[in-house]
Amino acid sequence: MSTEIWLDTDPGFDDWMAWALLQAEPGLKLVGVSVVAGNAPLRQTLANALRIRALHGWTVPVHAGCERPLVQAPVTAQDVLGETAMATAGRALPLTRAQPVAAHGVQALIDAARARPGRLTLLALGPLTNLATAFDAAPDLPALLKAVVLMGGSTDRGNTTAVAEFNIHADPEAAARVFGAGVPVVMFGLNVCRQVLVGDEHVRAVRALGTERALLFADHLDAYVGIARRRGGTHMAVYDPTPVAWLSRPELFALEPAHVDVELEGRLTRGMTVCEFRVPARARPNTRVATQADGPEVMAWSLRGLARVLS
Ligand code: RIB
Ligand code: CA
Repeated sequence: MSTEIWLDTDPGFDDWMAWALLQAEPGLKLVGVSVVAGNAPLRQTLANALRIRALHGWTVPVHAGCERPLVQAPVTAQDVLGETAMATAGRALPLTRAQPVAAHGVQALIDAARARPGRLTLLALGPLTNLATAFDAAPDLPALLKAVVLMGGSTDRGNTTAVAEFNIHADPEAAARVFGAGVPVVMFGLNVCRQVLVGDEHVRAVRALGTERALLFADHLDAYVGIARRRGGTHMAVYDPTPVAWLSRPELFALEPAHVDVELEGRLTRGMTVCEFRVPARARPNTRVATQADGPEVMAWSLRGLARVLS
C-alpha cells in the first residue's frame, strides 16, 4: 500500500528536487500540490510549479494557495535564490501556458484529507500558511491526517536569523498553529538537513545522465551549489528533499520525540522553533524531530531517484 502524499510547496529549486524525488518513488503516491508564497511571491512560485510539472509531463493537480502570511508582511528568499527563486548556471525552465486547477489550494487539501480519512500525509516544504489556514477552516482536519511531515525550523542555528529558519520565519503564526494543531508532526530542521550535503560531484553525476531534462536540472543544481561557493564553501545543505528521503528510507534517519513550539514575541528570537526534548516529563510530545541523517546515503538515494525521473 503506497503512502498518499499532499505536497505544499514554494518552488524554489530544492522544492523541485524534492517533488522530483517524490514522483520517482513507487511507494509514494502524490495526490495533489498546493503552492504557497515563500521563496518568492505566489505568482512566481506558482509559475515555477506549473513549469516544473509541464517539463516532466506530470498530471498531478496544482492549486494556488495563500499569497501572504497570516499576520506579518511577506518576506522572500529572493536575496539568496534570485528573482525567480530558480537561479540557473545556464538553461531556464521552459515557459508553459498551463494554469492551476480552479479550487484554492487550502480547500483542495481539506477535500483530499476528507476523501481519505487517516491516510493522507501532508508534506510541507515552504511557509505553513496554507496548512494553518486549512486547520482554521476545517476543525476536523487534524484528526483526518496521518501526519504533517515538514522541512522547517531548527534545533540549533537558524539560516534567516541567528535562530530562525526561513519557512518558520516567513510565517511564525502559521507554524505555531500547525505545531499546536494536535496532528502528529515530523520535523526536518536545519540541524539534520546540514548533515546532507550536495556538491560538484553530484552536479557532474546528474549532468552525466545526458538528457535535456538532466542538463537543465544540473544547471539549476550547479547554481544551488553556487550559493555555498559564494560563501567560500564547496557543499550546500539539501533542505526539502530530506523529508522525502525519510518517507522512502526512514532507516537513514534518527528521530527524537519533543514538544515543539514557535517563538512569536522575541525581539531576537521570533520564528525560532523551541524544542523541548524532556518529554513527557516537562511537556507533552507533539513532534518527532529528526536529529541524525546518513548524509552520504541520502545523497546516493537522491541520485538514484534523479536518474529515474530525469532520464
Ligand atoms: O530554509 C530552507 C527552506 O526555505 C527550504 O524549504 C527552501 O526551499 C526555502 O523555502
Ligand atoms: Ca521550500
